[in-house]
Amino acid sequence: MTNNRYSKGKVAVITGSSSGIGFETSLLLSRMGFYTYATMRNLNKSQKINDVAEKENLSLKVLKLDVTDDNSVKNAFRQIKEESSRIDVLVNNAGYGIVGAVEDLSLEEFKSQFETNFFGVIRVTKEVIPLMRNQGYGSIINVSSVGGKIGIPLNSTYISSKFALEGLSESMRYELKQFGVDVILIEPGVVKTSFFENVKVVLNTNNTTNTNKKTPVYSELSQKLLESFEPMIKSNSASLPSDVAKVIYQAIESPTRQVRYPVGKDAFSIFNMRQKLSDEEFENWITESIFHKKSFIN
Ligand SMILES: NC(=O)c1ccc[n+]([C@@H]2O[C@H](COP(=O)([O-])OP(=O)(O)OC[C@H]3O[C@@H](n4cnc5c(N)ncnc54)[C@H](OP(=O)(O)O)[C@@H]3O)[C@@H](O)[C@H]2O)c1
Repeated sequence: MTNNRYSKGKVAVITGSSSGIGFETSLLLSRMGFYTYATMRNLNKSQKINDVAEKENLSLKVLKLDVTDDNSVKNAFRQIKEESSRIDVLVNNAGYGIVGAVEDLSLEEFKSQFETNFFGVIRVTKEVIPLMRNQGYGSIINVSSVGGKIGIPLNSTYISSKFALEGLSESMRYELKQFGVDVILIEPGVVKTSFFENVKVVLNTNNTTNTNKKTPVYSELSQKLLESFEPMIKSNSASLPSDVAKVIYQAIESPTRQVRYPVGKDAFSIFNMRQKLSDEEFENWITESIFHKKSFIN
C-alpha cells in the first residue's frame, strides 16, 4: 500500500480506538498521512496505541470519547475543532454485542445496545456534519456488520442495531451527497478481535412469573451459539482487524467508491448465499451453519 500524498494534512477521527478494528484503523490512517484522533472511552487503555505512535513517530492523538455520553462527545469535538480546522474522515467504529433471546432481554438491554451502536453513531456524526457540509467534502465511515443485512438467532439486539445503522447510512447518503459528503458502510464477517470476549451474554434465568417457562429455556440454544463462536474466530475465513482497516483506507481513497464494503471470505459467502437462496432456504442454511457447525464458506 502506498502512502497517498493527498492524505497529507487531512484529519481523521475514529471512535473505539482502544482495541480491534478501531485500534488498527487509527494506526493505519496515521501511517498513511492522516492526522488522526484515536478516541476511546477509557484513557487507561491508551498506552499501547501511544507506544506504537511514538515509536513510529505518527501524527496520532488519543482523546477521551464515550459515544453514549453527550458531554464526552461535545468535549472531544470542541478540542478537535479548536486544534484542526477540518475533519476529512469520521470512522464510527465503537460497538459491542449482546447475545440473548428477545424474551429474556430487558427493554433496558435493547436500549443500551442501541445507545452505543446506533444513537452513539448519530451523536458523533451530528458533530461532524456541519463542518463537513461547510467544507464541501468529507467521508463518514460506519462500521456495520454482515449482521447489518441478515438475522442471526439470539442476536436480535445487535442485529437490529446494525440494521438501523444501515438504514440511517443509506438515508443520510441522499442528504449529504449534494455537499460532497459521502457515507460508507463497512460490513465485516467475523474479525479476530476482543469483540467476542466483550459480548454481553444474557441467558435465561429463573422466571417465577411464567410457570410455563422451563428454566433456562434458551440456554441450550445459547450454548450452541457460543460454542460456534470459537471455531468461527479461529477459522481461516475470519479476518484480522488490520484487514478491515485496509478496506476502510481503500474505501476512503478510492476514486470509485462503493456504498458498502463487505470484509472477509465469510462475509462474501454469506451475501452470495443471501442473494441466491429464498428467505426460507437461507434461514435453513444459517441454522445448519451455526448450530451444526458447518462452514459459512461455500
Ligand atoms: N469482531 C467482529 O467479528 C465484528 C464483525 C462485524 C462488525 N464488527 C464491528 O466492529 C466494531 C469494532 O469492534 P471490534 O471487533 O474491533 O471489537 P473490540 O475489539 O471489542 O472493540 C470495540 C471498541 O468499541 C469501544 N466501545 C464500546 N463501547 C463504547 C462507547 N460507549 N464509547 C466509545 N467506545 C466504545 C471499545 O472500548 P473499550 O475498550 O473501552 O470497551 C473498543 O474500543 C464494532 O462496531 C462491531 O460491531 C465486529
